[in-house]
Amino acid sequence: MNKLQFILNDTIREIDFNNSVYSPTTTVLKYLRSLPGHKGVKEGCAEGDCGACTVVLAHFDGKKMKYKAVDSCLIFLPMLQGSQLITIENLESDSGQLHPVQNAMIESDGSQCGYCTPGIVMTLFSAYKNHHSTETAEIKKTLSGNLCRCTGYKPIVEAAQSVLSHIEEDHFSIKENKIIKLLKQINSNSNKEFFTENQRYIKPFDLSEAYFYRQLYSEAILICGNTDIALKVTKKNELLPEIIDISDLKELNFIKKTAKTIFIGSGTTIEDIRVVIKDELPALYYMLSVFGSGQIRNMASMGGNIGSASPIGDTLPVLMAYKAKVVLKNATNTRKIPVEKFIISYRKTDIQPGEIIYSVEIPIPDKNKIIRSYKVSKRREMDISTLSACFSLQKNTQNNTVDRIILAYGGMAATQKRALICEEFLKGKNWTQETIDKAIPILRNEFRPLSDARSGEQFRTIVAGNLLQGFFNETLADS
Ligand SMILES: Cc1cc2nc3c(=O)[nH]c(=O)nc-3n(C[C@H](O)[C@H](O)[C@H](O)COP(=O)(O)OP(=O)(O)OC[C@H]3O[C@@H](n4cnc5c(N)ncnc54)[C@H](O)[C@@H]3O)c2cc1C
Ligand code: FES
Ligand code: FES
Repeated sequence: MNKLQFILNDTIREIDFNNSVYSPTTTVLKYLRSLPGHKGVKEGCAEGDCGACTVVLAHFDGKKMKYKAVDSCLIFLPMLQGSQLITIENLESDSGQLHPVQNAMIESDGSQCGYCTPGIVMTLFSAYKNHHSTETAEIKKTLSGNLCRCTGYKPIVEAAQSVLSHIEEDHFSIKENKIIKLLKQINSNSNKEFFTENQRYIKPFDLSEAYFYRQLYSEAILICGNTDIALKVTKKNELLPEIIDISDLKELNFIKKTAKTIFIGSGTTIEDIRVVIKDELPALYYMLSVFGSGQIRNMASMGGNIGSASPIGDTLPVLMAYKAKVVLKNATNTRKIPVEKFIISYRKTDIQPGEIIYSVEIPIPDKNKIIRSYKVSKRREMDISTLSACFSLQKNTQNNTVDRIILAYGGMAATQKRALICEEFLKGKNWTQETIDKAIPILRNEFRPLSDARSGEQFRTIVAGNLLQGFFNETLADS
């Protein structure tokens, strides 16, 4: 059996790769554009930056349907297995009534040329189904993954505010039971291998199968949210011969909290983590709030962020400052290593053949520790970091000296890096402006960052010091 099944237009759709013009790495965007009746979805950038290709994926989580907006240009066809694909053409009801989000966009003149409009409507539709907040700041955050060149965002935000303040049952709620039945039917009979002459795509059913296939196909690329790997296909036109997709593994999708530690499964998405760790890990919450866009956060996983070992991966400096550990597993062994030791060189991790990142364990810091994170990028939303940092300070409150300090930076070297010399200098010193004035030149001397399209070496070096100054100022404001 080489068939993929998902729901489109309220019926089960099948793609049989034995006899198909599509391959397992055809993106959902390309697939939809090839169908009659689904050309509302648009291609703008093919790399997750513009949102013109936004569709909604709905899953049954065992209790209810969950709807999330995603960039269809970053999704390979087998990632649809067992879910409902909803496009702009599905928003109208069977009796021809526009969906409330479509009416709101019309009423507030939210569209001019219309190229971005299907994507924006789909993002608003997912916000509608998730009973999203009507606060302007939250709406702007939700829309941050959708670019519009001509309308201006004010009418679009107004449309969102108006429709989100009157959420009612829509035709999706009415049909939910039917869809759940179809999804159960697909899941009782689902397939885990999709192949063509030159590609093999495997979706293991559980973790033990994932270890088995990881061992068997040692050269296969592991994917979870696919927000990094998809670009190999959409931008570099690479053929990926073997893929193991772990995005559906429930065993990797968890967040557990104890009094001392938060345990995050590697497959948990950035958005699912963001919404539950605000109180315990505010510095991580901040960093996840400025991570990509809603569409990216809905797919990107924690395991993928650390697994890609990018020097500008945003979670790594924060995890370093929190002294987090990475848990790696294979079929027989478990290893737990500090995040700092996990990244060994430029885009290289300590993962051994057969291993998978299982989870990240983050100690909940003592109340007397101050931990703050910073992201410097050209745009506030939807941008990769030029540099980022996370600092952790434990002071001796009796005499205002530094007990322990961690200064972790991203974008300043080939890997995330702590300013160890500066940390050593600060230890035991008075936490005063005089000390910071001496510390900043030491810190700036510790790094030789690259110059690249985002910025020059000099800018990065100056800003790295300024972030320490900013952190010092914030600690004064706090005390
Ligand atoms: C438009 C756009 C905006 C972005 N914005 C940001 C941003 O603001 N900040 C940021 O840090 N990144 C950003 N990224 C990069 C990317 O989204 C993140 O790195 C993301 O966390 C990757 O997760 P994923 O699940 O999609 O990884 P995938 O693409 O599935 O995989 C990435 C790598 O991790 C490996 N991997 C995945 N899971 C595991 C596992 N469990 N065990 C072992 N290896 C694993 C894969 O083999 C692969 O090498 C952006 C990307 C795009 C396209
Ligand atoms: S085409 Fe731009 S985000 Fe997909
Ligand atoms: S309406 Fe033209 S790009 Fe948004």
